Amino acid sequence: MTDSSRTPEDARAAFQTCKSPDARERVQFYDSWAENYEKDHCLMSYSAPHLGIDFLLDNFSGSHEAARVLDVACGSGWIAKLMVELGFKHFVGVDGSQGMLALAAKTGLYEELKLALLGTEPLPAQTGAFDVVIIAGALDPGFAPVSVVRELCHAAKPGGLVCMSRGDHSGAAGQQYKKELERELQQMQEEGLWSQVGLKHTDRYMEDPHLDPERVQELQQEQRFISGTAYLYKKAIH
Ligand SMILES: C[S@@+](CC[C@H](N)C(=O)[O-])C[C@H]1O[C@@H](n2cnc3c(N)ncnc32)[C@H](O)[C@@H]1O
Repeated sequence: MTDSSRTPEDARAAFQTCKSPDARERVQFYDSWAENYEKDHCLMSYSAPHLGIDFLLDNFSGSHEAARVLDVACGSGWIAKLMVELGFKHFVGVDGSQGMLALAAKTGLYEELKLALLGTEPLPAQTGAFDVVIIAGALDPGFAPVSVVRELCHAAKPGGLVCMSRGDHSGAAGQQYKKELERELQQMQEEGLWSQVGLKHTDRYMEDPHLDPERVQELQQEQRFISGTAYLYKKAIH
């Protein structure tokens, strides 16, 4: 059961425990965090699902009701809970954490939920089957490796949209990851696999969960946030 007395300090402590560079250990941590996941992310003003969905909606002209949506690293099902309010009905979810998938299952919104450790196991999704492929908050070092973006593109239908939202977490590994990600996105465009629809930047992706708790109180509200970006690509038709 979610602990309703969770505080920002509890949330920060949980984020700071979840530091392993090993994806398998990370997803195991999510198993134990699942029940407090949404509460802790709300306490840190996490905006990856909203950032991605808002940008996607500005650019999606198909039928919401008919669209097939692949939610990669679906976690607790936050994306489907928001998108169902907008008329979307067909969701398939993938995640590496059993605990998170159990929460996603409880929403009753997913037609299928699949367990897979991305980067180690292939993305369990049919090629060319989804109108929308979305990944929020999981393109980071120790999470889904950069190579996964090719698999996201494979899963999209020709002309389908791939939406990726992520935060600029501090540290050299985060900066290196972002550089490699943007290089791969560009490389795929040069290969004719997709074209960029646009980028949407936010200065307030979430509160920096890795700040020293002693320092947080000294900072102005806006200094506590990390920035983030939603990347939107359209798969080539041919
Ligand atoms: C920050 S949560 C984001 C969840 C959801 N997309 C959201 O925005 O609420 C990251 C999710 O990615 C999953 N994850 C991290 N690395 C993964 C990997 N290599 N393979 C599969 N899932 C992974 C975790 O289990 C967790 O559910």
